Amino acid sequence: MSEQTSSMWGGRFSEATDSFVAEFTASVNFDKRMARQDIQGSIAHATMLGMCGIITQDESCQIINGLTQIQAEIDDGKFQWLVVLEDVHMNIESRLTTLIGDVGKKLHTGRSRNDQVATDIRLWLRDETDNILVLLAKLQSGLLDLAANHTKTIMPGFTHLQTAQPVSFGHHVMAWFEMLVRDSERFVDTRHRINQMPLGSAALAGTTYPIDRTITARLLGFEGICQNSLDAVSDRDFAIEFTANASILMMHLSRMSEELILWMSAQFGFIHIPDRFCTGSSIMPQKKNPDVPELVRGKAARVFGQLTTLLTLMKNQPLAYNKDNQEDKEPLFDCVDTLTGSLLAFADMLPNIIPNVDNMRAATMKGYATATDLADYLVKKGLPFRDAHEVVGKAVGLGVSKGVDLSELSLDELQSFSPLIECDVFDCLTLEGSLTARNHIGGTAPNQVLSAIKRGHERIINPKTA
Ligand code: ARG
Repeated sequence: MSEQTSSMWGGRFSEATDSFVAEFTASVNFDKRMARQDIQGSIAHATMLGMCGIITQDESCQIINGLTQIQAEIDDGKFQWLVVLEDVHMNIESRLTTLIGDVGKKLHTGRSRNDQVATDIRLWLRDETDNILVLLAKLQSGLLDLAANHTKTIMPGFTHLQTAQPVSFGHHVMAWFEMLVRDSERFVDTRHRINQMPLGSAALAGTTYPIDRTITARLLGFEGICQNSLDAVSDRDFAIEFTANASILMMHLSRMSEELILWMSAQFGFIHIPDRFCTGSSIMPQKKNPDVPELVRGKAARVFGQLTTLLTLMKNQPLAYNKDNQEDKEPLFDCVDTLTGSLLAFADMLPNIIPNVDNMRAATMKGYATATDLADYLVKKGLPFRDAHEVVGKAVGLGVSKGVDLSELSLDELQSFSPLIECDVFDCLTLEGSLTARNHIGGTAPNQVLSAIKRGHERIINPKTA
């Protein structure tokens, strides 16, 4: 047994809280991470209480000064967090009363920890969303620079991981860019639903004091006010939505990682990843391992897990607040940390990968990547596409048996498959010809990729103006 029950809620208890239970139910060790937002919310609440005459202006000022001092203590690492005080909210409130006396006890007028914690998480996640948008913008602009240098660097484009058609490395990088544009849009959209204020809902039903929620919302920069008190204290959709967005983004980073890992292998030899992003093996001296992409691929699993945790946490909860909700923070924090770390690593690493231009080109020459171009050539000379497909299939067959590319077959050999083939055929069989021919929005022609890059600069989302 511990010595006492909490002075914050112990009035109706006749027995002290079991010491294990006190520790088991406490959240301060992790929710102290939201101290800044908790103080920010409390300052706004105290300001509103003063403005509405629920406490005096003088009391409001004393509370705000006390809270400001507590923030300084936390910043200086001098604040003493106590597990017996359960959570971040009661630790700060208790310290406030120690600092300014009984006036501190008035701060909790017209609110509950239920609307307080929901407000804190939203403020915290809003800041983290902005930080993630900044990192995404950095990564995206790095990708645009990388793509701009390689609109004419030719590599095999794959389907089924088999050589399909030539593309430029720049075009491939711009595919990654597109994924990240959608990811940014998702976070911007979710931010509107994060940025709604629960404060004023009190425990679940609202409060009997003449509060003005528009004042607190304005002070805290919320763009809206949660419209139902029961929903406001229990809703964690915004956190689930954020984690779902994070999962999709991590899935994208993981796909990019997979490509980097394959491309860095001796078998592909497509890219060089600077040494500072790789590590060696303690037994095999020749090894240079793509640890950063491998780890990001692994960390995606962890974020998906946190999404499942949050969905499962909420699925059986009746309205309104339940203590289960205390379990929302660690998955959310871990999701944010994992995502932020992965983005930091990628924003630094990805723009610095160096393509091995010769190897990419040699690989493109190997898999009959211009076969579709030959079929298109025949179609333009009047042959129906299915027949053209058949003709080219036979030409590829000859190439395979001779061990040469289509462009290395003689005109006579090519003409033996179709009299429509003339000496201009070799233009479309070159890799450059193949690229240049795909000249429309979204195609791999170098001038199209250049325009996509130009448009891309305007599509990067600046969180300050979003
Ligand atoms: N630590 C709690 C949480 O994270 C704060 C709210 C507690 N409210 C309550 N009535 N027990 O959710």
